[in-house]
Amino acid sequence: MSNNTYSKLIEPSIKDARKRRKEEIKFSIFDINPKYLNFGVGKKYHLKTYGCQGNLSDSEKMAGILEALGFIATDIETEADFVLFNTCAIRENAEERVFGELGRFQKFLKQKPDMIIGICGCMPQEEKTVRRLKKSFPYVKVVFGTHNISSLPEYVYDAFNGQKVVEVLSIEGNIVENIPVKRDHPAKAWVDIMYGCDEFCTYCIVPYTRGKERSRKPESIIEEVEALAKAGYVEVTLLGQNVNAYGKDFTDREYGFANLLEDLNKTNIKRIRYTTSHPRDLDLATIKAMALGGNIMPNLHLPVQSGNNEVLKRMNRKYTKEEYMEKINLLKEYVPGISITTDIIVAFPGETEEQFQDTVELVKEVEFEGAFTFIYSPREGTPAANYENLLTEEQKHDRLNRLNDVVNAHSLKGQMRFENQVVEVLVEGPSKNNPELLCGYSEHNKLVNFTPKNAKVGDLVKVKIIKAYSWHLLGEEL
Ligand code: 5AD
Ligand code: SF4
Repeated sequence: MSNNTYSKLIEPSIKDARKRRKEEIKFSIFDINPKYLNFGVGKKYHLKTYGCQGNLSDSEKMAGILEALGFIATDIETEADFVLFNTCAIRENAEERVFGELGRFQKFLKQKPDMIIGICGCMPQEEKTVRRLKKSFPYVKVVFGTHNISSLPEYVYDAFNGQKVVEVLSIEGNIVENIPVKRDHPAKAWVDIMYGCDEFCTYCIVPYTRGKERSRKPESIIEEVEALAKAGYVEVTLLGQNVNAYGKDFTDREYGFANLLEDLNKTNIKRIRYTTSHPRDLDLATIKAMALGGNIMPNLHLPVQSGNNEVLKRMNRKYTKEEYMEKINLLKEYVPGISITTDIIVAFPGETEEQFQDTVELVKEVEFEGAFTFIYSPREGTPAANYENLLTEEQKHDRLNRLNDVVNAHSLKGQMRFENQVVEVLVEGPSKNNPELLCGYSEHNKLVNFTPKNAKVGDLVKVKIIKAYSWHLLGEEL
């Protein structure tokens, strides 16, 4: 069989991915062409996932599709007939790790020449990735992006029949309902509420890799959440790149993220979280919906990126530090005790030491209880990749380290407030470092290790906190 016949060859185009037209979103219902049914029987797959919750959620769908075809999962790499990398393009180092892994798999092919290796997710949406795959990784047989997960049956079928598949669509995207899902966790579930992003922050590749903002219908989301509750799931995390823009694309109704929270507040699911929020689109109605409490958990991830207005402007974030603080103050007023976490980028092109200090000051002012901090990484095709950046690697790391020191001090403070308090924990399983303890997350999303009485995985139990540490709380079940 030839290695070089393509059953599909469509390469990505950043130029097309940038376009936003006013076309209706196409909704469709997933089904498997009878031609592919049982095709995977007797074959094993190994799926590796990198990046954000969006990718974790996509991977659960791809696992669902593969198992519907008859494939079974394996953790043992060399046993797999099909290995699929679901990748992230947000920063250079995430990408390099994947290329390293692809290199490592080349040697498995010597022992097992029939192994099919595929790559999907955000990296193939970039032109440069597909160029590099073709040049240096010709043994990768399946390449597709974020828009065509539902075509997976066809791709594996073609690849196992000796053809190569490259199908990366640079479209704005559609919505496919009813994809089977193989969930990783017995009590917590991801629920996509929208896809894509229209913000175009100047550093970010996501609007190019994931298409335009498009929302699932509230009925489908509510139905999914009720079904999860019925099936025994305790917690859902609503997912979108910018969940606060939920519903803005509806042409048939006025219904936004706050409405969705209000409706889900009435469902039987015990815990609701959501990510990610954009500070500009987070509105008072949403903050008020969070104040309803009940199953809506008191924690929020609200990426600020920088504490300096000039830098925020060049990042195209469309809010000022003052506007951000206003929302933080409202959140603290309406949801007393709320735990707020954030994302911050240091060494954005042109960031001066004074501008960096503004970010440090903001971290102190907000008292974030956690932050993901990153050194700016240029992404081909985004505006900021053309901005001049004069900082040395040493200066960049120095800023990151200084910021992390301040962030860590505040996260510890955020942990200490729970000492001697009783929190409710959703039990995940044995604690990592001490198998005699169980672990889980509190309402405020704090990792709790505790001495159990009767608790088992999936239970919600009351735990008295004895001691707070930087990265976990220690307690005992009441
Ligand atoms: N470089 C560094 N960090 C980035 N992020 C997004 N794009 C980049 C980039 N080019 C960060 C942002 C975002 C998080 C998911 O990743 O902080 O909120
Ligand atoms: Fe990227 Fe900005 Fe969209 Fe977040 S809001 S995914 S940072 S473009």
